[in-house]
Amino acid sequence: MPTRLEILKLLADGRFHSGTALGAVLGVSRAAVCKGIQALVDAGVCVHRVAGRGYRLLRPCVLLDTAAIDRGLGSLPVRISLELFDEIDSTSQYLLRRPNPVSGAVCMAERQSAGRGRRGRSWTATPYRNLMMSLAWRFDSGPAALTGLSLAAGVALVRALEEYGVQGVGLKWPNDLVVGGRKLAGLLVDLRGEAAGPTWVVLGVGLNVSIDEREAAQIDQAWTDLDAVLGEDVDRNRLASLLIRHVVLAFVRFADAGFSAFVSDWNGLHVFADQPVRLLQGERVQAGIARGVDSHGGLIVETEGVRHVYHSGEISLRGAS
Ligand code: BTN
Repeated sequence: MPTRLEILKLLADGRFHSGTALGAVLGVSRAAVCKGIQALVDAGVCVHRVAGRGYRLLRPCVLLDTAAIDRGLGSLPVRISLELFDEIDSTSQYLLRRPNPVSGAVCMAERQSAGRGRRGRSWTATPYRNLMMSLAWRFDSGPAALTGLSLAAGVALVRALEEYGVQGVGLKWPNDLVVGGRKLAGLLVDLRGEAAGPTWVVLGVGLNVSIDEREAAQIDQAWTDLDAVLGEDVDRNRLASLLIRHVVLAFVRFADAGFSAFVSDWNGLHVFADQPVRLLQGERVQAGIARGVDSHGGLIVETEGVRHVYHSGEISLRGAS
């Protein structure tokens, strides 16, 4: 049976292809093509079948391409080694399984079977239409010096989106990227290392480019995607290059100057700035006015004129559900 990717490459143009024609190119029978198509459908790809004409994708797609992404990186202070998988459990887990991944190792996948989100959630995305990537980095310092790194990465991702042409993206503490109150992207930082350093970091990024109904039904928070925000097809390869480039430059800067170099940028992108919020910490609810983050990435909430700094919790606007 042909692989999903082999069939998808032939269907990517969005035109009709008959089972016979697909079979001839792939050197397999029509029955094998049929099974391959079913595997694509099972993976969440919408394939339209018309008797007498064949198969076509409901929406054409451009597949991720390591050469195109490499070309778009420009010059960077470290070498990026990019691995792209058709399917993997989780791009972050892949890098975390390595004993000591080197700075600049990047893993991307068109589909994750066990994508991880923050706070034990799973991460769901329509295959072949979104961006799921992880990047490894080695910092000389111990983990304590890296508080705020995930917030710095959030700033870097917003800048990458802005360079692509996406406007109006803000940050919800600690590091969700949101547009109009809806989540566009999330990031997850895994740290490994001794207290004195070095620390190996794996940053995982999930960006909603185009979410279909099937995956939408599994997302339990308000979300949006670039389809909705931009109203046009997205060049995922170009966007992936920009995301990697901005994160790498941010990590180099962070290693040099720490989170203080990012505080004012973060506060400028803060979507709840000076608004009444609730911070949920387990059973505890803190209400106050969000005043941005401090030089360690802690959230400042002002309650009855007193400023408190929090390092964990889920923030929401007061009055919002
Ligand atoms: C969040 O919950 O906001 C964080 C989501 C992070 C998802 C990405 S997708 C690529 C990488 N691999 C994973 O398993 N998770 C991250």
